[in-house]
Amino acid sequence: MKFSEKLISLLKNDPVVSVLTGAGVSAESGVETFRGENGLWRKFKPEELASVDAFLSNPELVWEWYNLRQNIVRDIEPNPGHYSIAEMENIFTSFYIITQNVDGLHKRAGNTRPIELHGNIMRNICTGCCKLFDEIEFTGEVQIPYCDSCSSMLRPDVVWFGEMLPEEALKDAENAIMNTEVFFSIGTSAVVQPAASMPVWAKNNGAYLVEINIEETPLTFYADESIRGRSGEVLPELIEEIKKEIHE
Ligand code: OAD
Repeated sequence: MKFSEKLISLLKNDPVVSVLTGAGVSAESGVETFRGENGLWRKFKPEELASVDAFLSNPELVWEWYNLRQNIVRDIEPNPGHYSIAEMENIFTSFYIITQNVDGLHKRAGNTRPIELHGNIMRNICTGCCKLFDEIEFTGEVQIPYCDSCSSMLRPDVVWFGEMLPEEALKDAENAIMNTEVFFSIGTSAVVQPAASMPVWAKNNGAYLVEINIEETPLTFYADESIRGRSGEVLPELIEEIKKEIHE
């Protein structure tokens, strides 16, 4: 793959780099995306599975759905796209990774401090006292888990439709955006706010905006360049190219 001279010349000067990722980055690990032809939201209704109302009216169903997804995430591995993003953290002196993904794969690939905008599916939280719980493994039938401190129901520590993003993650993301010189938006349909606006904020603040996606998104025409391809293929090639340039 041929990358633009502009992008390579910017990257070889060790700029502040931020990456925003979406479900597309985990697609090559076997996690289904939300939108698109076979997307999860084509088969399931988010308002019945991923909202506070859904949880309060049918916690058993919501827990069954999340248990299914937790089991999928437990069994998958990071792919070359994740490993390339982890490598970027070693290449650039100042690097931020912001993700909408809840699968924890960036951390498993080696990124030390991913900013998780939508939480982490392998963590659970008490709806009463907010105590955090690690993975819950159900043996046999899925049952609603309860807090061992206050006896309230536990829920997965993810952001549901209609909920605010975790304050600290949002603050960290804003800090990254304000400092960024090159901003990558990778594998996201760029439609869910506020993440969808982050690339735009970065560009308005002077960053060079690069999109990597297998198809066009609402961001494509706003980006300085849009690279069409799978993140697990484009990113390893980009890393190779940057390393070659740095060592020349
Ligand atoms: P989407 O499913 O909306 O979009 C996935 C994007 O990845 C699409 O634009 C695809 O074209 C692209 N894509 C698929 N495979 C790819 C690959 N191998 N390489 C590069 N791109 C690829 O997922 P998100 O944008 O992450 O929110 O969705 C945002 C949020 O909507 C999610 O975090 C979730 C969902 O509802 C919550 O759960 C709160």
